[in-house]
Amino acid sequence: YSTATPYTTLPSVLLLGPPGAGKTALTTLFERGPLDLPLAKTHTSQVPSSIELSINSDDPSSASYKTNLDEAGATAKKFLLVDTPGHPKLRASSLAHLNSAEPTIKSSLVSDGGAKSKIKAVVFMVDAAALADGDALPSTAEYLYDVLLTLQKRFHSRNGSRAPASMPVLVAANKLDLFTALPAALVKSNLEAELGRIRAARSKGLLDSGVGQDDLAAGEEGDWLGGDGSEKFSFAQMMEFDVDVDVIGGSVTGDGPGAEKWWKWIGERV
Ligand code: GTP
Ligand code: MG
Repeated sequence: YSTATPYTTLPSVLLLGPPGAGKTALTTLFERGPLDLPLAKTHTSQVPSSIELSINSDDPSSASYKTNLDEAGATAKKFLLVDTPGHPKLRASSLAHLNSAEPTIKSSLVSDGGAKSKIKAVVFMVDAAALADGDALPSTAEYLYDVLLTLQKRFHSRNGSRAPASMPVLVAANKLDLFTALPAALVKSNLEAELGRIRAARSKGLLDSGVGQDDLAAGEEGDWLGGDGSEKFSFAQMMEFDVDVDVIGGSVTGDGPGAEKWWKWIGERV
């Protein structure tokens, strides 16, 4: 533990996603690190919470959350993982953090000081088993739509000519230990298809309410996610707004692929 780094300047990673996706379970898994303890039972989150984590900054690509960095003698990079509640009524405040050119999270959540922590990345966790039966797809995609649209609008609302910081987004397809779970590639294509449906439905709503085609095409006022004129939605369209989306499968519990790929993804971005 190094006291040389002022606590309040640590960057953070914002963990979002629908209820029951496994956000708190993942937070607990990363927090216990090398300790091989069974995961405690989680409860529905009602307020955000954050934990301080360290990753091997010498080589994040080969880092493991199970490594004891003190013993390894490695140089550690510290960051905060901010676990948020997935309940729809509690989402607005999570989204509000992303609603500026340089997203930060307020001090009261992450420290006792008055400083703000810079959000370096977003992890949007989904339950790949729940997505398999289709019922969870519309509500999951609805939330993801709002996250991506908030990040996109940030781009338009910037002051002056300076582009907002790029924002990497990891869609973490969780629960791949369950044989009913969709593989990551299908999680990706199903979400893209559903986001496209939501986009079409919302733009139709705007047209019905008198917003002109020109306004939509300008991309300033509308809720049109991604690039203009495209028939199908794909995550790649978000690159235009410096929002870089990856979809990676994993699991927090059970006998599955584990969480190391997510850890590495985070380590390369904090
Ligand atoms: P909210 O706080 O309501 O937003 O939910 P959350 O995303 O924090 O979910 P939570 O971590 O509480 O996990 C919900 C349930 O999913 C718990 O019973 C976990 O044990 C279970 N769970 C989490 N990860 C996995 C996994 O990889 N595989 C399986 N099978 N179950 C998991
Ligand atoms: Mg939770």
